[in-house]
Amino acid sequence: MAVRRLAPDDIQPKSFAFSPENEIFAQEQIAKYPPGRQASAVIPLLWRAQEQTGGWLPRKAIEAIAVRLDMPDIRVLEVATFYTMFNLDPVGKHFIQFCGTTPCALRGAGEIKKILERRVGEQSHVSADGNFSWLEVECLGACCNAPMVQINHDYYEDLAPENFEKLLDDLAAGRPVKPGPQSGRRSSEPADAVKTLTDPALYDGSVVGAWRKRFEEEAIKAVETGEAANATATAAANPKPAKPDAGRAIGTESADTPAKRVKEGDAPVSAAERKDAADQTRASVDQTSKGAVPTPQSDKSYGATPSKPGSGQATPDAPTTPVAGTPPSDAPARRDGSESKPDVVVDPTKKPS
Ligand code: FES
Repeated sequence: MAVRRLAPDDIQPKSFAFSPENEIFAQEQIAKYPPGRQASAVIPLLWRAQEQTGGWLPRKAIEAIAVRLDMPDIRVLEVATFYTMFNLDPVGKHFIQFCGTTPCALRGAGEIKKILERRVGEQSHVSADGNFSWLEVECLGACCNAPMVQINHDYYEDLAPENFEKLLDDLAAGRPVKPGPQSGRRSSEPADAVKTLTDPALYDGSVVGAWRKRFEEEAIKAVETGEAANATATAAANPKPAKPDAGRAIGTESADTPAKRVKEGDAPVSAAERKDAADQTRASVDQTSKGAVPTPQSDKSYGATPSKPGSGQATPDAPTTPVAGTPPSDAPARRDGSESKPDVVVDPTKKPS
């Protein structure tokens, strides 16, 4: 991606104003957004300005749109320089966007690029006759017809050196050209040996329901040979034992579920859950009525918050730096991302600075 700058001052027009038709368009776009959000219309306005000025954005157009949308110039400039859909230099009558991305490159885009360089010159410059300019862009989304280019608003696909040279000749001479694949194939159908949907059976109805007909024929054949009757008799005489619970409803309740407790006349909360809820050491609500330490309200709360021993918090009297010669701890190492951070020991007797 080349650095995108505004065109040199000597080719910049002195002023810019929307044409009456584009002025109406601009007002309609701005009216789509609530007051204070008119900046959302920046892309349609830049696009219409580019079309009005022959395919590129002069500095004055960018500044006029900034004033119109109550935006700083730099914000509009950021949008105009970010998107390659906005040209910052004049373009030829036929502006060619050449796709140089991998699928096109693998299918021969390099040869197309050489033709552009030979016939038009380096990219972002208009040819001497004013007919052409070109720019290498990223994938244009027609990889199944690679290699391809976009010329003004149309795609030209399935390019090869011969058909691309002819395309440029026709455009230069003002002859009509046909967008789309240049190889003769239609859209992105198989390039050769087109066999898809060519079987006549697809259109005479014989394929539809063929599977049902086959099953019916097999069933008739089984009756005729007595195979079906034999199978039924064998199944009645020698039933296969079913696996326990295989596809059958389970007759016993093995889980202590709320539904089971209610059925047995118990509360839907188990004894274990009630005990757990009564454990005040795990409560996170206000405990002042039970004589617990009140929850500190200031930012000096670090040392005053009670913690359970061994709950992972550092305690003032527990050394955090191993003493030389101490055997490694059996405690599992932390793996939560905090292992690289130094442990902080908070001394509750010391006031924070
Ligand atoms: S890579 Fe060229 S169109 Fe996608």
